[in-house]
Amino acid sequence: MKIKILTLFPKMFEGIINESIIKRAIDKEVCEIELIDMRDYSLDKHHHVDDTPCGGGAGMVLACDVVDRAIKANKGNSAHVILTTPQGIKYDQKVAYRLAKEEELLIVCGHYEGFDERIRSYVDEEISIGDYVLTGGEIAAMAISDSVIRLLDKAIRKESYMDDSFSNGLLEYPQYTRPISYNGENVPEVLLSGNHKLIERFRKKESLRKTLLRRPDLLENYKLSKEEAILLEEIKGELKWKNLEYYYIFPHFHLNTV
Ligand code: ADE
Repeated sequence: MKIKILTLFPKMFEGIINESIIKRAIDKEVCEIELIDMRDYSLDKHHHVDDTPCGGGAGMVLACDVVDRAIKANKGNSAHVILTTPQGIKYDQKVAYRLAKEEELLIVCGHYEGFDERIRSYVDEEISIGDYVLTGGEIAAMAISDSVIRLLDKAIRKESYMDDSFSNGLLEYPQYTRPISYNGENVPEVLLSGNHKLIERFRKKESLRKTLLRRPDLLENYKLSKEEAILLEEIKGELKWKNLEYYYIFPHFHLNTV
């Protein structure tokens, strides 16, 4: 996959492309990231890319002609063009899987003070990474690139993300490693039993438990298998016993939700 990023701040990306899994993916030619400075498409001799808002008001607005030229020069035949903005569709793992199927992405980083509304019509979709406002679209572009690249063939082992939170619609089960006992807290015995069936059951149950307690909204759209329905009933029974304890761990969940 090729990811081209149109930005006013290419240096911001140095960290993610030179470290860890993304760097390895680039080195292994699983993906290529090209950083494109939008200023290169300004016709102004001072390379201005923004101007004052029509109608008055504070701040500067990213100009549509600069972005249009930059997109046209870099889109090629097949790139899927994304604009990062808090007004876009909310990004999630499903969108990451969908984008991972594209051959080429062109991500246009929204401007920290605003952009000309006409820019919206130059892109295939607008994406927000959450209901908060960043100083610019660069961090959103990094989050999208990172989450898409790790899904590409050979970026990481498939087993490493099959059980990820959200991949199957549930939060991931809890993980442990040595030391087995630490500060009076022990690794659950079943994980040391070597019994793969029991371990699988434990993980499924704890994944359901976490989802029920932390993200009950995810369960609303999740189709439970017969085994999962039984496990969920077991969990609800256990939680009734421990209601108060869980209420104090997650006080924002009302007792009657479990
Ligand atoms: N630019 C500023 N805030 C953003 C957000 N939440 N998502 C995507 N782009 C943004």
